[in-house]
This record gives sequence, structure tokens and C-alpha cells, in this order.
Amino acid sequence: MLAVAVLAAGKGTRMKSSLPKVLQPLAGATLVERVLACCNRLQPEKRLLIVGHQADKVEQQLSHLEGLEFVLQQPQNGTGHAVQQLLPALEGFDGELLVLNGDVPLLRPATIEQLLNTHRSTGADVTVLTACLADPTGYGRVFADQQGRVSAIVEHRDCNEQQRLNSLTNAGIYCFNWRSLEKVLPLLDSDNDQGELYLTDTVAMLPLAVHHEVADPAEVNGINDRRQLAQCESLLQQRLRDHWMKEGVTFIDPSSCTLSEDCKFGLDVVIEPQTHLRGHCQIGSGCQIGPGSLLINADLGERVTVLHSVIREAKIGDDVAIGPFAHLRPGSELADHCRIGNFVEVKASQIGEGSKVNHLSYIGDAELGRDVNVGAGTITANYDGKNKHRTVIGDGSKTGANSVLVAPIVLGSNVTVGAGSTLTKNVSDGSLAISRAKQMIKEGWSALKNTQD
Ligand code: UD1
Ligand code: CA
Repeated sequence: MLAVAVLAAGKGTRMKSSLPKVLQPLAGATLVERVLACCNRLQPEKRLLIVGHQADKVEQQLSHLEGLEFVLQQPQNGTGHAVQQLLPALEGFDGELLVLNGDVPLLRPATIEQLLNTHRSTGADVTVLTACLADPTGYGRVFADQQGRVSAIVEHRDCNEQQRLNSLTNAGIYCFNWRSLEKVLPLLDSDNDQGELYLTDTVAMLPLAVHHEVADPAEVNGINDRRQLAQCESLLQQRLRDHWMKEGVTFIDPSSCTLSEDCKFGLDVVIEPQTHLRGHCQIGSGCQIGPGSLLINADLGERVTVLHSVIREAKIGDDVAIGPFAHLRPGSELADHCRIGNFVEVKASQIGEGSKVNHLSYIGDAELGRDVNVGAGTITANYDGKNKHRTVIGDGSKTGANSVLVAPIVLGSNVTVGAGSTLTKNVSDGSLAISRAKQMIKEGWSALKNTQD
């Protein structure tokens, strides 16, 4: 039997934030979601989250996770006090308890499996995950012998100068035999610099404590402040980019680009500098994205080019060219071979195959057929001050420069709209629609004007 408990009750004072520390985001997921996710593979019988500071907010944020039990720690009197709160919830439980600090988001699932293996093969009462850090400042120091037996963990602030030279640090991840731990938990005291109950003190009370050292110390980075948050973000981004480079994606200037874990790429995608992909993005083979683009929940077909543009919640077919300086907003759907050019905004609109909106346009709540050519500066006037209305343009139609299509309006197929027209009525197939004042010419007007002055 395996139970997992994540400690997420602390305030995170050093973060200086109105958000509880474990809800700080990192590459699109909160710290605590990342810690919980790395235990999924183990399929524990019980999953417990210890909440306290802004407990409601944390519970609300994680309410979508099935089978997660929330245990309240009030007040928050240290990590040992947090685990004491499990005593009622785990009464009669006979198995292993994996305890994870909620602020260690880079941990790999394989590392936890190795920790469990060490725990099982040594028959220890507790196995502590450790790392040798170049700069162990702030971490608890682990005192162990050559055989890996741990005698004590001393917090950085409680260490003397000699003890601080020890670079073997506590990662804040432990596997306990619950039966052994439940006996010593009530014996903890607060005789330390912070006056708190420390979970780490149980190690010296248990008959056999051992440690398992991680191969990659970067995995156990704990996040206490914004500087560490930024360092972890950059490590995570590097991991994501390295993964996709192995899968056939080119990054021209990798460190200037960011991704989320829910991005998927085909082969031979080129990501140009200063390009950011967030949420669920699906990018087909041969796409070229950037420089200077932001994509959020975007679904791109193959060979799409995106230059200096923003795309959010849009679906784009194959061989589409976007930008520079286009803005595709939620609900935009572009079929194959479309072209969305400079300073064009598209929202909640379907654009048919081969259609072009090349310059300075707003297309909102519209449905464009195939091979439509939208002239420079064409605007769909979709909002009457109260409601939004639709514009429909049939196959092969063309709008002249600076047309305003006042919705609701339907233009049939092969319609031509004269430049500068403001249309308020439907136009039938094959018609020319012009609506503008007739041009007037007054010959010799300048000369006449001068004699009058
Ligand atoms: C802790 C360890 C330290 C280790 C480090 C690794 C202790 C005493 N120290 O220190 O040895 O090197 O993690 O990152 O355990 N929490 C609660 N309730 C509380 C206090 C904290 O749930 O009353 C939670 C926090 O939300 C956090 C985790 O426990 O997720 C760790 O707390 P934190 O204050 O960050 O401990 P550190 O000082 O980093
Ligand atoms: Ca910490």
C-alpha cells in the first residue's frame, strides 16, 4: 500500500505574493500540480494534500483532480506539524507514505521510483532524497555515513559553521514506513531557530534512516523566492526545448523562446527567436513560427508561416501565411492556402480555402467562402452597440479598399464591392455593389479661390 502526501499549507513568505506559494505558475502549471503529477505513475492508494494558508483557494484550484483528499493544517507550525495532521486520515494504514514538499516542481517521476526502490531494498523506516549542491544555502543538511545511513538532518539556520560545509542536502522528499512514522510524530518538539515542528527531526528518531542521492541536482530545486522561481522556469524551458529539438524541431535562438508542456510539433518545424507557445498548441510539420510571435491554444496545419503575430484559440489549415502583425482571436478558423496579412484582426470567423485578407482589416463574426479577396481596410461592422451580428461573403467575392460591411449582411458569390462603400443591404450573386457619394469636379477652382482671397 502506498499513500502520497504533498505539503502545501505554507504561506511562502519569501515569495512576497498574495498567491499561496504552491499556486505560483511555472510553464503553465502550478507548483503543486507539478509535484502531484510526478506521482501519478505510482498509482497510490491514497493521495493527500495538506492545505492551510488560503486553503480555500488551493482546494478550488485543484478541485478537478480526482481522488485527492484535502487535510487542513491550522495554524501552520512547520513541516512536522503538517504531517501530524495525517494521523487521523491514515489511522490503521499499513504501508509506505511518500511525503513531498509542494515547492519542488522539477522532480522526475523516475527519481521517485528510484527512491522507492532504495527504500524497499534497504528495509529502512525512512529514505530521504538527497542532492549534493554546489550552493546548499538555505537547505537542510543531511548527515550520513559511507553506507548511506542518515543520523540527522539539520536546517541551514540551525547549523554551525562546520555543519554548513556539508553539501549533502535534503530535497524535501521522503518515503516513510507509516507504522514507524506514526509512533515518532507525536514526539516532535520545536527546539529550533524557527520554533516549529520539523518533519526532518523524525529521521534521527527512527531506527533505520537512509538516503538516496539524485543524479541530477537540478531536479530538487526548491522554490522559496522569485529568483528560484525564475531559475526553475528557465530549467524547465530548457528541458522542453531539448526534448523537441531531439524530436526534429529547430530553434534559431532557443533561450529566447518559451513553450508549455502541452505543445506538440511535427517534423522540421522552425521556431524563430522571441516566439512563445502557451497552452495546448499543435504545430504541423514544416511550419515556421516567428520571429516575435505568441501562440496560445493554437492548432496549425502543415507548412504554415507566422511572422510577428498573435494567435489565440484558432485553428489553421495547411499552407497558410500569417502576418506580419496579424491578430487571430478565439474562434478563428482558416482553411488551407489562406493569407492573413499586415495589421489584420480576425475573430470568431471562418475563412474558406484560398481566401486572402491582406491588409488593415477587421473580420469579426464572419463566414467567408473560398477564394474571397478582402480589400485593404475592409471592416465587418459586427456590433450595433448591443448585439453582435454575422457577415457572410460567398465564394470568389471581392471587396474594394475601405469597404464597411454593416452586419447582419450576406454578400453572395462573385460579388464585387466598390472601394469606399458602406453596405447595409444584402447583395445577390454576381452583382457589383457601390455605395458612396458621386465624385464632383469643379474645374479651375483653385484659381477662382485665389482671386477671391
Ligand atoms: C524544507 C526542509 C529542508 C529542505 C527543504 C527542501 C524542513 C524543516 N525543512 O525547508 O530540510 O532542505 O525543504 O526544499 O522540513 N509547509 C506546510 N506547513 C507548514 C510549513 C510548510 O505545509 O507548516 C509546506 C510548504 O507549503 C512547502 C513545504 O512544506 O510546500 C516546505 O516548506 P518550506 O517552508 O518551503 O521549507 P524549507 O524551509 O524550504
Ligand atoms: Ca522550500
